Amino acid sequence: MAARLAFSCAGQRSPWLRPKPISTVLDCRRAAGGNATASVGVLGSSANLKTHGDLPQIRTWEVLYRAVFKGYLNRLHELQIYEKQLYGPIYKVSTGSRHSITLNSVELVEELLRKDDKFPSRGDMSLWTEFRDIKDIGYGPFTEEGERWYKLRAVLNKRMLHPKDSVQYETVVNEVVTDFIKRIYHIRKTSPTGDLVENLSNELYRFSLEGISSILFETRIGCLENEIPKETQDFIDSIAKMFTYSMPVVLTPKWTRNILPFWRRYISGWEGIFKFAGQLIDMKMDAIQRRVDTDQEVGGEYLTYLLSSTNMTNKEVYGSVAELLLAGVDTTSNTMMWTFYQLSREPKVQESLYHEINHCVKGDRIPTAQDVTNMPYLKAVIKEALRMYPVVPINARRMSEKDVIIGGYFFPKKTSFTLCHYSICHDEKVFPEPSKFKPERWLRDGRTRPNPFGSIPFGFGVRGCVGRRIAELEMYLALARIMKLFEIRPDPTVGDVKVLNRTVLVADRQVNLHFMERNGNTVL
Ligand code: HEM
Repeated sequence: MAARLAFSCAGQRSPWLRPKPISTVLDCRRAAGGNATASVGVLGSSANLKTHGDLPQIRTWEVLYRAVFKGYLNRLHELQIYEKQLYGPIYKVSTGSRHSITLNSVELVEELLRKDDKFPSRGDMSLWTEFRDIKDIGYGPFTEEGERWYKLRAVLNKRMLHPKDSVQYETVVNEVVTDFIKRIYHIRKTSPTGDLVENLSNELYRFSLEGISSILFETRIGCLENEIPKETQDFIDSIAKMFTYSMPVVLTPKWTRNILPFWRRYISGWEGIFKFAGQLIDMKMDAIQRRVDTDQEVGGEYLTYLLSSTNMTNKEVYGSVAELLLAGVDTTSNTMMWTFYQLSREPKVQESLYHEINHCVKGDRIPTAQDVTNMPYLKAVIKEALRMYPVVPINARRMSEKDVIIGGYFFPKKTSFTLCHYSICHDEKVFPEPSKFKPERWLRDGRTRPNPFGSIPFGFGVRGCVGRRIAELEMYLALARIMKLFEIRPDPTVGDVKVLNRTVLVADRQVNLHFMERNGNTVL
């Protein structure tokens, strides 16, 4: 069971942002025009501008050669740095008849995002939409586009996006943190040294799934119990299955679907996800109906809000809740894993963090969301972890509505862009000493602060991450409490943990850390 969880956490591509393999991660529609310079009167200037034909170009064979023979397939984040050295901050990547313009500098990324469409798009999501179309399931925030997406986000944002919205989940999150800490005690006790937490990624995956489920479904699903309930385990397995078979499905032609097992397994993964989510949603609907029938007030948390206070159809609710759930697990859990890993290697940072938390939260009191507002160092630690390990290392935009000029080049509408967040986060011009974990670079204490576009781990603008505030709340509350209880130390047998790109950035090995109990603190 644990192995399965670990597999789904660290061993899968979880292509929730762009469900495509390398060739199509670089996906884009063919930009119109050839190498000729463009006359861009439409953009308010009659000057002749350079076009994509003037850019350095990476061709399909080079993409494949680097991925397969130079070993970048699992290290696509590092490829960003390598390609910037070769081609500079802007270049074109072609795979077959598709092209994408890669932006690999903070200035160009900022320029593009500031010119983003009214209804921004990340590009082709057909891998996810196909199943929904076959089964007549609604689209969610990832898969929806255009004005329909905009309306959906307006509803989803309401109880999620603003920091004050996330505060209402504080009690739920703290309950999950309590159970997670109990689990840490349990694991330590059964470890050979009495203080070791083995396979931290796996444990954090369980924590994140329990956390996001309890917020979305208002129901505990038992991920932190010693024996995970069967339906929950089936659900976890379904997520793993869907992600595992995404890649083979994309890589094999459609006519093989009835012959090879991939498509069937991929579909059965989705079926398991929607079955579990559907049952929990149906249970909630019955509960709401009972309250309505007995004239009781219908208040409550996120799902109740979606079901009772919005015009969303059940079909839309199913689609959205499943996508929120998928987006909210690997991202949060891996960010926490990298944070603990760095803290274990930086005792001084850990000490400063401990002092701040102890100063703000006295004795056995459980930290609240309000406490977090007085803990700039805590926030800086997470921000720095996300800078060094932006779990979503690459992003994309397709400019669907208008032509655009970026970096002095003209691009017709429908051009796709790839944004190289990882290499920008590690650019020493943007972040001096980029390979050092330095939370203080984020403090507002008079020092020059980094370029705000240097690290945008949750994306930018109206299409930015809807779960940001929830993810932050989960991470802050868990980290604050764990730090009060334990000093984290590395396990020498683990060595230097390297980063693998499985769409989100994961550890290249099992991470074990010692959780040394601090004296006299047992905050449960
Ligand atoms: C550390 C945790 C997380 C990180 C780093 C993260 C990062 C991101 C990024 C980079 C995007 C793309 C934004 C853009 O294109 O501008 C995104 C989108 C999204 N995230 Fe998150 N995310 C996290 C946690 C969550 C959680 C907990 C949820 C669910 C509650 C969630 C739900 C979503 C959804 C639904 C989208 C798609 C939004 C849209 O297209 O309208 N994320 N996230």
